[in-house]
Amino acid sequence: MDAYTCILTKRDSRAYTDQAIPEATLERVLRAGRMAGSAKNTQPWSFIVLRDAAGKAELAACGQFAQHLPAAPVLVAVVLAPNGGDFDAGRAAQNMMLVAWEEGITSCPVAMHDRECASRALGVPEGHRVAMVLAFGYPESEESLHRGIPRTPLAELVHHERW
Ligand SMILES: Cc1cc2nc3c(=O)[nH]c(=O)nc-3n(C[C@H](O)[C@H](O)[C@H](O)COP(=O)(O)O)c2cc1C
Repeated sequence: MDAYTCILTKRDSRAYTDQAIPEATLERVLRAGRMAGSAKNTQPWSFIVLRDAAGKAELAACGQFAQHLPAAPVLVAVVLAPNGGDFDAGRAAQNMMLVAWEEGITSCPVAMHDRECASRALGVPEGHRVAMVLAFGYPESEESLHRGIPRTPLAELVHHERW
């Protein structure tokens, strides 16, 4: 799949099969996150991989819309170092989700609304914070990938020279 097709066909989905994600595939995904650019190349992230059911359930309780997390075979929490920016976390997260999709693995990012809860559940060091949790799994069905949410037409969001 070329990059453009990967970007255009990627849908955020919360319905996964039980099929395990091979270690080599997961490593490829994590390597894609590692290669993201960041402000001054500070690489302010760490990635915490969760496979354990109890750990996933504990994390799911920290977000308001995180009920789907335990259903995913793998979660990756993107943790930011002190002064790390959300834009950097987003770049790493999107890299991982796109490379996963290239491998036929769908994903859905979810915010941890109770940050202290997420930090406690993951044991992150003082001053670090959980920017986002990514759920990864093979899609449950073709339908689960089509939520039909349209994007804003290009003409409405692109401006030339000035707003
Ligand atoms: C229950 C639920 C929780 C989500 N939480 C977040 C979130 O916290 N942050 C985020 O960037 N996207 C979150 N998403 C994903 C966005 O909703 C998604 O990117 C957007 O709807 C576009 O989806 P599509 O690419 O499948 O059309 C969530 C989705 C669902 C269904």
